[in-house]
Amino acid sequence: MCKKTYYLTTPIYYVNDKPHIGHSYTTVLADTLVRYHRLFGDEGFLLTGTDEHGQKVQKAAAERNLTPQEHCDSTVVRFQEAWKRLNISNDDFIRTTEARHKKIVQAVLQDLFDRGLIYKAEYKGRYCVPCERFYTEKDLEGSDLCPDCKRSTNEITESNYFFKMSHYQDWLVDYIKTHPGFIQPSFRANETLGFLKRPLEDLCISRPKSRLAWGIELPFDKDYVCYVWFDALINYISAIGYGSDNEKFEPLWKNSHHLIGKDILTTHTVYWPTMLKAMNLNMPESIFAHGWWLMGQDKMSKSLGNVVNPMDMMDKYGVDSFRYFLMAEMSLGQDASFSEDSFITRYNSDLANDLGNLLNRVVKMTIKQFDGVIPVPSPEIGENEKELKSAVENAVKAIQETVENMKLDRGLESIMNAVRTGNRYMEKTAPWTLAKNGETEKLGTVLYTAAEALRIISGLLAPVMPAKMAELSKVLGLDFEETLESLSVWGKLKPGTKMSDLEALFMRIVKEEEKKPEAAAPKKSKPAEKKKEEKKMEKQPETAIEGVITIDDFFKAQLRTAKILAAEKVEGADKLLKLQIEIGEEKRQIVAGIALFYKPEDIIGRTIIVVANLKPAQIRGIESRGMLLAAKHGKELKLVTVDGEIASGASVG
Ligand code: ME8
Ligand code: MG
Repeated sequence: MCKKTYYLTTPIYYVNDKPHIGHSYTTVLADTLVRYHRLFGDEGFLLTGTDEHGQKVQKAAAERNLTPQEHCDSTVVRFQEAWKRLNISNDDFIRTTEARHKKIVQAVLQDLFDRGLIYKAEYKGRYCVPCERFYTEKDLEGSDLCPDCKRSTNEITESNYFFKMSHYQDWLVDYIKTHPGFIQPSFRANETLGFLKRPLEDLCISRPKSRLAWGIELPFDKDYVCYVWFDALINYISAIGYGSDNEKFEPLWKNSHHLIGKDILTTHTVYWPTMLKAMNLNMPESIFAHGWWLMGQDKMSKSLGNVVNPMDMMDKYGVDSFRYFLMAEMSLGQDASFSEDSFITRYNSDLANDLGNLLNRVVKMTIKQFDGVIPVPSPEIGENEKELKSAVENAVKAIQETVENMKLDRGLESIMNAVRTGNRYMEKTAPWTLAKNGETEKLGTVLYTAAEALRIISGLLAPVMPAKMAELSKVLGLDFEETLESLSVWGKLKPGTKMSDLEALFMRIVKEEEKKPEAAAPKKSKPAEKKKEEKKMEKQPETAIEGVITIDDFFKAQLRTAKILAAEKVEGADKLLKLQIEIGEEKRQIVAGIALFYKPEDIIGRTIIVVANLKPAQIRGIESRGMLLAAKHGKELKLVTVDGEIASGASVG
């Protein structure tokens, strides 16, 4: 069978920035998706790179007394090193200052110019000397002041070159409407269509060298360089052989996908498609814009000083756990808030506890009871085995679907669900008791079954955590590379294979506050005075009213405000909604029986009250971590909410 091609790009990042968690997210996501496609048997091709022209680079270089090229050469390594460290399997890395790119940009410019799609025009505008920026009358909205620095601007007349973007407006609107998967998620397609309701103007694609010299020279006018976005977007085709290696270019471009952040939607869904159309090239298959990593509620920015350095996270906690966190924590398409605390919580619960525990139990027992040799399972499969097998098979299916539909975080949830089913399997079958009672055959079946589940789970998680999962498959003595096919077949693990021992794959992280016992007490430990009073209250004789509780009893339930981030119906259960909620910096999923009373879209954004420390439960196979409060009367039900704005995570009591 002929392999399917899957060509995926990341944005090319501004070379001036230091890679931060946002850049890492896009790049890790792209890498993970391509690795999944390779697992599925596709020919994956991942492109990333750097955007190196423009004003900012010119300025930064001048400040360092370097030429712009020298400056870029010294800063690009920050990205190259970060991606190496993050184990990014990119097939190419394009820099817009490379000859192979510049040549193609110039060829495109010349071709569009020759065909009358680029023309020269003179127009008036205002120039801010200190900012070195040119503004049109429209940018200034009637004022004379620079919108950036608020100083006065001078009127100048400038000639520039324009691309006839307006020409393609109707075509583009129609294309977006008739190709539902083109811009994803679909609400981003609507955003672009909204933008296209206004008349689309032609795009100024040149800058006079007198203002900005650091760029690709226009082939038909030496006094100008190309506008940086027009140059940058072309990387997606120059890197894969457009205009130079058609054999390479065609199959890749036919199966191309762009992954971007929501900040650069217009350039990718308006400029780029019209440029491609003018070049007579196909549109990419999809352009997916993901959400934003926030610090709490705030944007991450240098000026706020809250930028997370991915290198620090990796130094502290390891590469793969950082990759896992990025992939599991953000619902693809939506914003997510980052905190080290939420990292630790997820790491400890998913990796150190759930996955680490399962692995540990299986390996330690197999070594102790069978000298590390994977035992032969009995041919008959019992109910418990069936349950685990089906959780694992569901995870295989889910990962395929969620990679295709760009809902990867949900696929990962389904894998973690299989892991937890594995731990429950161990508890139900109690191999330690079987060992004590000398029930060797049963014990063999249990350990084999759990080890086989681990084989498939580690294969499914490998695109997210390549190094750690390679370690895990080595422990299981696997000597073949997993494919979707091998992961879909239960029983590939060969009895008789020798397992090797391992130190913990994921060491539990002890939070600072856990290290000091006195600080570990609940945050709202009450002042001494109040405590005394309560103690006193407790000493008073119990009243005879049934069901009376003390204030301490009440505070055992941690009630918190929570914000609903997303809600959806649970398939096959009319009464249930699955909610994604935020409690302070923590994100959780809960399942609530409110679907008959509330539509998902009506409750998103609401602040509700939840019992935050309720033991997690599986409701119809879906994990629920917490319970919301609602008032019920007869056939009525109303959510308990708060009287006005308050942060999520606030205590209630
Ligand atoms: O825009 N959360 O480059 P750039 C999530 N050179 N993703 C984030 C993020 C955050 N807080 N911050 C940045 C450019 N990103 C142009 C692109 S493409 C032809 C030219 C990610 O260095 C996200 O992918 O500003 C965003 O789109 C990209 O970094 C912007 O990177
Ligand atoms: Mg940016």
